[in-house]
Amino acid sequence: MTRKGKDTEWIKVFSPATIGNIGPGFDVLGLAIKGPGDTVIARRIKSGIKISEIKSPQPLSKDPNKNTAGIAARHVLDLLGVDGGIEMKIIKGLPIGSGLGSSAASAAAGAFAANYLYGGKLTRKQLILPATKAEEAVSGGFFADNTAPALLGGATLTRCCMPLDITEIGSIERLILVVVTPRIVILTREARRILPAKVPLKDFVYNMANTALITAAFAKDDYSLFARSLHDVVIEPVRAKLIKGFDAVKESAMKAGADGMTISGAGPTVFAITDNMEKARTIEEHMTITFSQFGVATDSWITTVDAKGTRLI
Ligand code: HSE
Repeated sequence: MTRKGKDTEWIKVFSPATIGNIGPGFDVLGLAIKGPGDTVIARRIKSGIKISEIKSPQPLSKDPNKNTAGIAARHVLDLLGVDGGIEMKIIKGLPIGSGLGSSAASAAAGAFAANYLYGGKLTRKQLILPATKAEEAVSGGFFADNTAPALLGGATLTRCCMPLDITEIGSIERLILVVVTPRIVILTREARRILPAKVPLKDFVYNMANTALITAAFAKDDYSLFARSLHDVVIEPVRAKLIKGFDAVKESAMKAGADGMTISGAGPTVFAITDNMEKARTIEEHMTITFSQFGVATDSWITTVDAKGTRLI
């Protein structure tokens, strides 16, 4: 990454939606997907981090110490050791508390913008730590399964958080995702609080085996292997209770021909998978109708893997 233009020139950075966990890989696997995302428009200023504008359907603080884009940018400037500042305008394309990596997308875009404006000395991988610290400030947990794919694109695996050890595991070309977002808010902090502290050994083994297979599936670009492995017996049954109609929606997706369906991140977004576009449309219709039968309004889209990650637009 190299810096172009004058000091006061605005740049525009886009960061995609991400699916945390990819089913059984809790806090470990993550995937960037095409479609909506967050945009940060930024420029250099003399000092401080200033968020001058936020376009978001939900209320969001302009306090740079409370906003993930601002926090991530601050961490990047500290890492770079520069004494200049940044002014930002944020356009939220991702709803907050939706399970689509909304706070991570803002953090990734803020980190990327700060680095780009001040010489681009840090690599995308080096931006994951500041972005993850920013997400930690709002989610209450330190995990990189949204920030890593948001920055790098494709699917990623976090082996360890301290120090961060992230591996890009690839993509699956045939993979089509049907993403359905109920119009309710589930805060990640709350969805983490309800998780069990202890897990039966057989469930641990089952989830570990499926997580390993999903990793192999992305590394080998093998859709069938992924379709076989999208099973989570640890987190999904607990969080499903927060999503009205979840079991019926999953049943309707599978009946409509999906090869798997689970929760995206902390929810309430759910996603189903297929490798057939015609089937994807049927699955989307069935899932949406089933949610509506439970009185749950949704937004939905059909998409594929975003291999690029955070970028200038
Ligand atoms: N791994 C995190 C969780 C992702 O499931 O809590 C949150 O988007």
